Amino acid sequence: MLSIFIFELVALAAAADVSVVPNTVSLGSRKVPRAQIPGWRRRNLRAVNVPLDDFFLQTDLQWFGNISVGTPPQTIPVVFDTGSPFLEFVSTQCGAPCASQIAFNISASSTFVDGGEEQTLDFATGGGVDPVVDNNYVLTIRSAKDTVSVGGLDAGVIDLFTVVNQTAAFDIDPYSGIQGMSSDAQGFFAALINKGLPALFSMYITPKAIGNAELTIGGIDYSKFHGDLIYSSLPSGSEGAWQLPSPQVSINGKTTKELNTSRTIIFDSGTSNILFSTNTTEAIYAMISSDIKPFAAEPGAYGMPCSKISGLPAKIDITFTSQRGRPFNLTIPSGELNVGPFKSDPSTCQTLINAFDGLDLVGGSLFKHYYSVWDIGNQRMGFAPNGES
Ligand SMILES: *[C@@H]1O[C@H](CO)[C@@H](O)[C@H](O)[C@H]1NC(C)=O
Ligand SMILES: *[C@@H]1O[C@H](CO)[C@@H](O)[C@H](O)[C@H]1NC(C)=O
Ligand SMILES: *[C@@H]1O[C@H](CO)[C@@H](O)[C@H](O)[C@H]1NC(C)=O
Ligand SMILES: *[C@@H]1O[C@H](CO)[C@@H](O)[C@H](O)[C@H]1NC(C)=O
Ligand SMILES: *[C@@H]1O[C@H](CO)[C@@H](O)[C@H](O)[C@H]1NC(C)=O
Ligand SMILES: *[C@@H]1O[C@H](CO)[C@@H](O)[C@H](O)[C@H]1NC(C)=O
Repeated sequence: MLSIFIFELVALAAAADVSVVPNTVSLGSRKVPRAQIPGWRRRNLRAVNVPLDDFFLQTDLQWFGNISVGTPPQTIPVVFDTGSPFLEFVSTQCGAPCASQIAFNISASSTFVDGGEEQTLDFATGGGVDPVVDNNYVLTIRSAKDTVSVGGLDAGVIDLFTVVNQTAAFDIDPYSGIQGMSSDAQGFFAALINKGLPALFSMYITPKAIGNAELTIGGIDYSKFHGDLIYSSLPSGSEGAWQLPSPQVSINGKTTKELNTSRTIIFDSGTSNILFSTNTTEAIYAMISSDIKPFAAEPGAYGMPCSKISGLPAKIDITFTSQRGRPFNLTIPSGELNVGPFKSDPSTCQTLINAFDGLDLVGGSLFKHYYSVWDIGNQRMGFAPNGES
């Protein structure tokens, strides 16, 4: 899920007023050589694998796993979301609006401290494949502190947020919150890095049929892919966003003037679909099929008759540049084009790109085909084709 807060955070930082941002932009781990971090050699935490479940509704939507919060620990399922910075999850402070989710019981944790500051968190992409309209993904969050551990790694007491109200769009989620995994490491991840965990994580995000999805915190699980990782550097000034510049998009091996232009693409593990500006979206669809049309009931969504979509060639190659200056493609195969029938019109199948002006973003439909390394320490991303795909 892409939190609009990332962009607010950039604006706040520019205005040199970061007082409302908790645990502000912990870049220390990047700037300070590890040997200088007190206690690093002594503790030297080792990487752990955290199993992930796939939230599947006709199509793969999101991948989530458990964290432990409080004393004694309570198990809270969260999306590990590279599109947002903070940890927030439903608590017993939220009543009816959160009734369908597991709630963290604040009274049952002896280490819970309520911070009392409330604010709203808006998302530009939500929990499913449907476009975000009318601010339908909004959380009211309240500052707090408590202990958090993930995969047995104990971050100690960290800043977090409890969700005290939410819009109805969150009701269907089989998880209770979102663990932001932005490229500037906030919250539990910043705390673990300060305790000596290597400053990177890796994701093995698989389709439901394959399963065994996994987040590796602090390392890379080499058993999950073949071949070499290709790395590409985040542009400077990414301010917490995971993003890479791309000079070209190609469809079925061909590009156009519109698609052969540079754009910066955000990588969001918490979003299932792809978002491109309207002009890019329509340029891509024009090369796939003239049957793909905007779906009026859901502004930003597109679809075509389900009867014609099967087997349609729709290979999307997105070109990036490696750290060595060589071009490489990340490829979304034709099979991802169809994300399933629209509820309001089951004869029309939704296609995988939603139009959203000002944002170019890829999510699960790309990550399903790559093992991905999110290297905070070196501000770069690595990719290798998934071993099983
Ligand atoms: C999370 O923990 C619950 C038990 O509290 C367990 O049933 C579930 O399988 C766990 N989920 C994952 C992805 O490990
Ligand atoms: C929360 O924990 C308190 C203290 O253990 C307990 O009395 C209460 O019933 C719990 N509430 C819920 C909703 O489980
Ligand atoms: C919770 O949010 C809804 C909007 O989703 C709003 O109508 C309602 O008043 C809010 N409740 C509280 C207690 O703030
Ligand atoms: C990337 O894909 C395009 C279109 O299919 C192709 O022309 C190009 O050679 C590919 N680049 C690399 C480095 O494979
Ligand atoms: C893409 O644009 C570059 C100039 O920016 C040009 O050199 C290249 O030939 C173009 N590639 C294609 C396939 O049109
Ligand atoms: C496409 O639209 C975006 C956002 O509206 C704009 O920034 C970009 O310049 C446009 N690209 C072209 C090639 O017109």
